[in-house]
Amino acid sequence: MMLSEKKVIVGVTGGIAAYKAADLVSCLRSEGASVRVVLTRGAQEFIRPLTFKALSGHDVYHTLFGGPDPLPHITLADKGDVLVVYPATANFIGQAASGLAPDLLTTLLLAFKGPVLICPAMNTRMYTSTVVQTNLRLLEERGLVIVPPETGRLACGETGPGRLPPPDTVMEMIRGALLKKDLGGLTFLVTAGPTREPLDPVRYLTNRSSGKMGYAVARAARDRGARVILISGPTALTEPPGVSVVKVTTALEMRRAVLERFDTADVVVMGAAVSDYRPKGVREEKLKKGEPEITVTFTENPDILAELGKNKRHQLLVGFAAETGEIPVHARKKLEAKNLDLVVANDICQEGGGFEADTNTVCLAFRDGRFFDLPTMSKYLVAHRVIDAVLELREEETGRE
Ligand code: CTP
Repeated sequence: MMLSEKKVIVGVTGGIAAYKAADLVSCLRSEGASVRVVLTRGAQEFIRPLTFKALSGHDVYHTLFGGPDPLPHITLADKGDVLVVYPATANFIGQAASGLAPDLLTTLLLAFKGPVLICPAMNTRMYTSTVVQTNLRLLEERGLVIVPPETGRLACGETGPGRLPPPDTVMEMIRGALLKKDLGGLTFLVTAGPTREPLDPVRYLTNRSSGKMGYAVARAARDRGARVILISGPTALTEPPGVSVVKVTTALEMRRAVLERFDTADVVVMGAAVSDYRPKGVREEKLKKGEPEITVTFTENPDILAELGKNKRHQLLVGFAAETGEIPVHARKKLEAKNLDLVVANDICQEGGGFEADTNTVCLAFRDGRFFDLPTMSKYLVAHRVIDAVLELREEETGRE
């Protein structure tokens, strides 16, 4: 979903990362959003209102009293679809958690009824302090979205959590905050990425899965209000905020991580490309060269999804299938063999689909024989279509009960 015609209020508080807010405003405008900026007094120590006036195309709000509008907090609250505080200082977070309203931004926060995103950025010791963590938890319990800071080198020279995430990450969270929350109360267990099966201490067997499709499902489910557990094999992707991520390496580890959480899940989406085999017995020592030929024996890995299919009760199971040739036939076979509710099949020979790409061309095969071809689209949009299908299946099921 693009942000065109959405009204975004950006609150900027007085931290060193305030300069990044200029970039966020510019990114929001280039996606077609209309932006109003509120600066605290502290923010103006770091960046001038003129920057935001030029970037947003509107006057900047920075005072509760004495400005041209006698009730700027109400005008703004009525004007915005979403409010994002980027960056949010410990002081702002403390005031927000206590319901204090000494300035325009904190007063606006009390009057604003739409979704609110808070992006904390500060020194690591401040961020991890009990009081800041307690305040953030309080805000989260009240329904505000906390965008966790990144870990890295901070302006103070220390390294740790506290860095303001880049505009891209926050834009994604803003798009998500504006979606319908039709998965509220549901837990999605999603797997993604390849598995890595060791041969010796330095070598392993793996596959070309990038994890992008599974991560997209996790992000889309999160954006629609689900609690999401993402079990990820080794990938180069960053952990999606607001998702609980469990990192695993081998198929056996993935199996254990999935089974441990299966009971709590309402929907399982097995996006991972689990290695079907693993080298038999990992060598303790590095395999040395010198032999003209070597033989490696492989043992079959357990099929996690098939095991879930045997043990499922209330859970809806979604499997992926990488196919060539007669896609509907193969997809149906897999669906029946593993006792699944939905199979997302893609033709790995087709363009616009596949492993490293950001797009995918898939078909959805349902239990009752229905089969839909979807056009090529981004993996995030494919993820939404898969979730739509899952919701449809759940509704059919409740209708039958
Ligand atoms: N899967 C699994 N455990 C395995 C292998 C696969 O849970 N050991 C899951 C994958 O996550 C995916 C689906 O099963 O959702 C894919 O099934 P699979 O039978 O492996 O199909 P393909 O990967 O398409 O391969 P093939 O057609 O060769 O069976």
